[in-house]
Amino acid sequence: MLDTVKKFSKITIYLHWIIAVAMIGLVAVGLYMEDLPDGPDKFQLFGLHKSFGILVLSLASLRLLWRFRNGMPKSVADNGPFLKLVTKVVHWFLLLATILMPISGIIMSLSGGYGLSIFGFELVAKQVGDAGFVANELMGEIGSTIHGLGGDLILIALGLHVVGALKHHIFDKDDTLNRMIGKEAK
Ligand code: HEM
Ligand code: HEM
Repeated sequence: MLDTVKKFSKITIYLHWIIAVAMIGLVAVGLYMEDLPDGPDKFQLFGLHKSFGILVLSLASLRLLWRFRNGMPKSVADNGPFLKLVTKVVHWFLLLATILMPISGIIMSLSGGYGLSIFGFELVAKQVGDAGFVANELMGEIGSTIHGLGGDLILIALGLHVVGALKHHIFDKDDTLNRMIGKEAK
C-alpha cells in the first residue's frame, strides 16, 4: 500500500524509525569514537560503527527506491511557502545523508587500506603493504570531508526536523507526528 495524505504505509513508518534510531546512534558514536585514544576500545567501536553503517546503507537504498515509487509524503498541514521549502530541503537532505554517509565512510575505509567487514565477516580484505588496488589519498580526503561535514550538517537538519515535528504536534496540534507513528490523520 502506498502512502496517502491520511495514512502512511507500514514500509514508510518502519523504515523511518529504524533508520532514524540507527542514524542518531551512528552520529553520536562517530563523534565520540573520533576523540578516543588509539587502542582496542576505539577499534572495536570503529568496527561496530562501520557494520551498522553498512546495514543502514542497505535499508536506506530500499527506502530511496520506495521514495521514487511513492514520492515524498504530502503534508497534512498548510505550512506556507517558506516552511514548505525548508521541509522539502530538510527531508531530501536527511534522505540523501542516509546514503552518502555510509558511502563516504566506505570510501574512507577502503582508500585507507582498511578493507571492509560487517560484524567480523570480511567483504573486502585489508590491504597489506602496496598490494591491493584501493589505497588512494585523494579518495580518502574526499570521503572524510563528506563524512565529517555530513555529520555536522545532519545535526543542524535533525534539529530543524525534530523542532518542526514537535511544533506540529504541540502548537499546531495537527496529525504530522501521529501519521508517522501509524495513526490515521483526520
Ligand atoms: C526523534 C527523531 C525524529 C522525529 C520525531 C521524526 C519525525 C518525523 C515525522 C513526523 C515525519 C513526517 C513528516 C511529514 O508528514 O511531512 C518525518 C519524515 C521524515 N523523516 Fe523523520 N523524525 C526523526 C528522525 C529522523 C532521522 C534521524 C532521519 C534521518 C536521518 C529522518 C528522516 C526523515 C525523512 C527522510 C522523512 C521524509 C519521509 C520519509 O522518507 O520517511 N527523521 N520524520
Ligand atoms: C550510515 C551512517 C553513518 C553515519 C551517520 C556516520 C557518522 C559519523 C560521524 C558523525 C563521524 C565523526 C565525524 C568525522 O568523521 O569527523 C564518523 C566517523 C567515522 N566513520 Fe562514520 N557514519 C556512518 C557510516 C559509516 C560507515 C559505513 C563507515 C565505514 C565503513 C564509517 C566509518 C567511519 C570512520 C572510519 C570514522 C572515523 C573518522 C576519523 O576518525 O577521522 N562510517 N561517522
